[in-house]
Amino acid sequence: MNVKIAVLPGDGIGPEIMKEAIKVLDQIAKLYSISFSYEHALIGGAAIDDCSEALPQSTIDICKSADAILLGAVGGPKWETLPPEKQPERAALLPLRKIFNLYANLRPSIIFDDLKNASPLKNELVEGGFDILMIRELTGGIYFGEPKGREGDKAFDTMVYTKHEIERIAKIAFESALKRNKKVTSIDKANVLTTMVMWREVVTEIGKNYPEVALNHMYVDNAAMQLVRYPKQFDVILCENMFGDILSDEASMLTGSLGMLPSASLSEGTFGLYEPAGGSAPDIAGKGIANPIAQILSAAMMLKYSFKKDDAYDKIFNAVESVFKDGYRTIDIMSPGLKQVGTSEIGDLIVSKLIN
Ligand code: IPM
Ligand code: MN
Repeated sequence: MNVKIAVLPGDGIGPEIMKEAIKVLDQIAKLYSISFSYEHALIGGAAIDDCSEALPQSTIDICKSADAILLGAVGGPKWETLPPEKQPERAALLPLRKIFNLYANLRPSIIFDDLKNASPLKNELVEGGFDILMIRELTGGIYFGEPKGREGDKAFDTMVYTKHEIERIAKIAFESALKRNKKVTSIDKANVLTTMVMWREVVTEIGKNYPEVALNHMYVDNAAMQLVRYPKQFDVILCENMFGDILSDEASMLTGSLGMLPSASLSEGTFGLYEPAGGSAPDIAGKGIANPIAQILSAAMMLKYSFKKDDAYDKIFNAVESVFKDGYRTIDIMSPGLKQVGTSEIGDLIVSKLIN
């Protein structure tokens, strides 16, 4: 099997952590019957510096000819003074999602047993671990709804959902739950918003096709509170775009480090974009201390969701866990008495676990 990957390292720590993910993929290629050809392309601030555009047509073309996109991170202080619609985050990520119809964003929040102490929650709340899969609708809602704009002293955005958009993301949530603990919590604000009344109706309707899956509905404000009160109650959380943006940051922090969490943004079929949930961390860029694990696990998600190599995903996940068991940590997850290592060292350690 030969697959083509569009590699978009982007800004800040993006290029450093991408290098480690490629190391891991190269090792996976040796172990499984799969070979990767990488096509590098510029995105975000790096692309703005090169050709004044955050998402150049040449990058879109490379992505179109690829089987999957592996993205690092975009943005940084250098580009924050640009007009908002030209800034890397808005001008690169949002159109990329829309162009490739990446409507299903999967953000797992898994707490590794050896990293329990990194969680800001009390030990008794994380004891035994938790494993939440946040599923966020990514191409609809208030992010993209029309009209949006400014008129004199007024500014407005519009939250819009069609039945079809809700149905397809709900199906992803129920299908995912079937492979896990068979529970979906659908988040809405049906006590206030008309779109969210429809959201609840449509999710309930789709849920009838999945009698094995327990469905409950939760208002978004309550969900924000329940996540810190008792995270173990959740299995799959299903959210519209903006609620998912907010709650996925909260859920990720419960695990202790944003540098650990991967994400997948999927379209119909097997095409997907894979990127760390955290940002470009410009304050630590170039220092060789960034945690590459979110990028490595994003590559693992790519193997699982785009190329159906679940065994390779498990292998990488276990390798990461085993490096933690040996006591190695990057600075963001360091605890006294353990061994602190840099970006490329932890990458090498993970690769060495893949071989053994
Ligand atoms: C995310 C980010 C983006 C979003 C921004 C950078 C446009 O916060 O992927 O969660 O709001 O979707
Ligand atoms: Mn976000």
